[in-house]
Amino acid sequence: MSDDPAPVTVAQAMDRAVALASLGPAYGPNPRVGCVILDAHGAVLAEGWHRGAGTAHAEVAAIADAADRGIDVRGGTAVVTLEPCAHTGRTGPCVDALTEAGIAAVSYAVADPGRASGGGAEVLASRGIPATLAPHSAATALTHRWLTAMRLGRPYVIAKWASTLDGRMAAADGSAFWITGPEARDHAHGVRAEVDAIAVGTGTVLADDPQLSARPAGTEAEHQPLRVVLGRTATLGSKVWRDEHALAVESHDPRVALATLWALEVRTLVVEGGHTVLSAFLRSGLVDEIHAYIAPALLGAGPSVVEDLGIGTMADALRGHHVNFQPLGADILVSAHLSRGI
Ligand SMILES: NC(=O)c1ccc[n+]([C@@H]2O[C@H](COP(=O)([O-])OP(=O)(O)OC[C@H]3O[C@@H](n4cnc5c(N)ncnc54)[C@H](OP(=O)(O)O)[C@@H]3O)[C@@H](O)[C@H]2O)c1
Repeated sequence: MSDDPAPVTVAQAMDRAVALASLGPAYGPNPRVGCVILDAHGAVLAEGWHRGAGTAHAEVAAIADAADRGIDVRGGTAVVTLEPCAHTGRTGPCVDALTEAGIAAVSYAVADPGRASGGGAEVLASRGIPATLAPHSAATALTHRWLTAMRLGRPYVIAKWASTLDGRMAAADGSAFWITGPEARDHAHGVRAEVDAIAVGTGTVLADDPQLSARPAGTEAEHQPLRVVLGRTATLGSKVWRDEHALAVESHDPRVALATLWALEVRTLVVEGGHTVLSAFLRSGLVDEIHAYIAPALLGAGPSVVEDLGIGTMADALRGHHVNFQPLGADILVSAHLSRGI
């Protein structure tokens, strides 16, 4: 609950709903969603957010928050970052919870990508509860990876690598430890802790024997992504197989790998290399976002980050948009979206 009793506008309530949504986990099959319930004068009555698959949706959490404190939300407006759901999944439809609670109006920032099969806004409207789309850029940004995955029907793919200034991801002898410094590596561990799965090819498992765990700030994260090994060569005995939270996909078709992971409810995947696997995903047009950690070092020899992508002329270069530059110690992270996304 906000400490400020002053009335707020729907836009301010949406800012707060986005902040609440960001408290939820970025990984998992469900999006991060936040909800604020206002009374007829704009005073905040209740707040809620989704804490991950199988737990209450944000609207239900906000209604429960009000009930716990003996507050009546009838006649209130629910301000939600995502269109309320109209389907029964692990939990019941939010449109029913809002109707039963006596909510009079709904404002939502992002339309449900599954609305082709019946959007919650129409269901609410049919019950005399106006549900209005109020676009909000931070809510869209927060939901970007999940929305893209739902629209494409495959995991959102982040291609991540560390390279030298001359684009080498290993030295001529195959050594890749360490191209970047501790700040860059720590950042990459933070990203791992926010996704559902990490994939490498058998070449990387055999060359580096990586743990593929999320250890931001040197500590094992509570959430560990599924470790995925792509390829046919036996890698048993490597650290990736230390427990059952790992999967082998033998196909060389990245689409098969993504379909396998989608069936396991993987919605976000980091492909960490090496160059063979990264190139295969880029060539197939299956990379949504790139994370390039670039060190101020030169090697002059060794594998390049990407092999031939079949691009023959500058006009056809794969270019990023929504580009970000983040200094990390002596290195820099260049991140960008590659697909049009949403
Ligand atoms: N700097 C970095 O960020 C970074 C990250 C990772 C690795 N590396 C370095 O990269 C080097 C390893 O590179 P790499 O290219 O051998 O590793 P890789 O891409 O991890 O593995 C390549 C192997 O994956 C299998 N594979 C899976 N999908 C494939 C596909 N679509 N097309 C072709 N093969 C596929 C093949 O093995 P099968 O024959 O078994 O099917 C292939 O030989 C090492 O020196 C490592 O240190 C650097």
